[in-house]
Amino acid sequence: MGQARGKKNRFRTSGDEIVMNNTFSYEVLVVNGPNLGYIGKRDINTYGSRSIEEIPDILNENYPSMLQKTKIDFFQSNGEGRIIDRLEKAWQDKISGIVINPGAYTHTSLALADCLSWINIPYVEVHLSNVWSRDKIRQHSLTAKRSLGVVAGFGIMSYIYGLMALVDHLDYQ
Ligand code: DQA
Repeated sequence: MGQARGKKNRFRTSGDEIVMNNTFSYEVLVVNGPNLGYIGKRDINTYGSRSIEEIPDILNENYPSMLQKTKIDFFQSNGEGRIIDRLEKAWQDKISGIVINPGAYTHTSLALADCLSWINIPYVEVHLSNVWSRDKIRQHSLTAKRSLGVVAGFGIMSYIYGLMALVDHLDYQ
């Protein structure tokens, strides 16, 4: 089991952090990179019309057992340094795992890739769109190298599948 066993939290939204109300065994951080603060509004033909705020309800309705054991914090920033700072805090806090959509940093950020490598927290990389069906530069990920795996192309459901894969990994690792 992860390191967060027994903690409790209330659902709240403040700034770019959303914390869900759970009793949990795992503490998981969902990280969104640049231009992912308006999921559901940004370029809906490519990224879909469902928002990140729907994730708690989707989990609650379909995967309540996951919610019972997993505390999920959400973080979004447009800044590379802020994302790295948040990941370093996750390392300090000894959280169980990460689901990350690095946005365009996926394809460009050696700094983010280095961070994901050294903090050594199990993570799943997710993308709303099927990056392999898009322009060539989007077909390569610097940040996926140390990931457990990548989920891409399912809109907001990529996050749900990513969370399921991560929690399954934590259950059976
Ligand atoms: C994205 C894909 C990236 O190529 C793009 O820069 C994004 C979103 C996705 O979720 O499909 O910002 O990460």
